[in-house]
Amino acid sequence: MTMPSPLCPWRMQVHHITQETPDVWTLALLCHDQYRWRAGQYALVSINNSPDTLRAYTISATPGVSPFITLTVRRIENGVGSGWLTGQVKRGDYLWLSDAQGDFTCDRDDNDRFLLLGAGCGVTPIISMRRWLATYRPEADVAVIYNVRTPQDVIFADEWREYPVTLMAEQQATLGFLEGRISREVLAAVPDIASRTVMVCGPAPYMDAVEQMARELGVTRVRKETFFTPAAAPASSGLKFTTLHPAREFYGPVGTTLLEALESNRVPVNAACRAGVCGSCKTRVLSGEYTVSSTMTLTEKEIADGYVLACSCHPQSDLALA
Ligand code: FES
Repeated sequence: MTMPSPLCPWRMQVHHITQETPDVWTLALLCHDQYRWRAGQYALVSINNSPDTLRAYTISATPGVSPFITLTVRRIENGVGSGWLTGQVKRGDYLWLSDAQGDFTCDRDDNDRFLLLGAGCGVTPIISMRRWLATYRPEADVAVIYNVRTPQDVIFADEWREYPVTLMAEQQATLGFLEGRISREVLAAVPDIASRTVMVCGPAPYMDAVEQMARELGVTRVRKETFFTPAAAPASSGLKFTTLHPAREFYGPVGTTLLEALESNRVPVNAACRAGVCGSCKTRVLSGEYTVSSTMTLTEKEIADGYVLACSCHPQSDLALA
């Protein structure tokens, strides 16, 4: 079986699949080589073992602790990656993964007080880091707040019984759950919150709200998992972008990346790593000024023809796109 993409050189075999909640599954993978990752990192997965479709998923396993490499995936309606991983991939199949990526990790943080927060599937790097801290920094003071829609949406429910955790359910809160969304009161009840490193993963509005409330409570170290980048509201002025197919005109603020401008205006674009690594956001610029911070997957000819990685393209003027 040949490697579908040089970006995904790690072949892994599905050992088993566990259903965590009504719409979340964990795939436990075996890798016969020495795959290295840090707790909280993610990997790109070649979807359908195709070179063109890469999607990023957090590795929910913990290095040196978990017996398998695991991906925990929520099935999203019409999601190409999640639909394949949770609906078609079966035990014994092979997947291809990239090197582990990202710096949403706690292993180099010298603070020994943490507050880890996850919402929904954003809990995957949180559980990875929680296990890591329990194993390698047992003296660390770690608080966890996990927000879900309903109690049945708790992922890793059995494992959370091993750790101190505040569970919050937006609806149908049962015994053991606080009802509602994350709030300033809940954060303020965390002992010594101002001295903690706060690490948060989930939908962007959730992460932004946590950051703002934590800073108001005196926290100076807040880290968000930028992998779940949201689409911002479309701009109505600033740099002008035009596309030929379909013919459209839209705006993005000065300082935007091309990817942010496209996403905020709902122009279809693929983006997996958002870091200039996977090549999935390749886009052609016909005219205009821009700088680039990565051309990693592009050939000389593509660069000469105006192709850029949208996530790593920084427009300096109005741009015309193919
Ligand atoms: S999203 Fe991966 S290179 Fe842009």
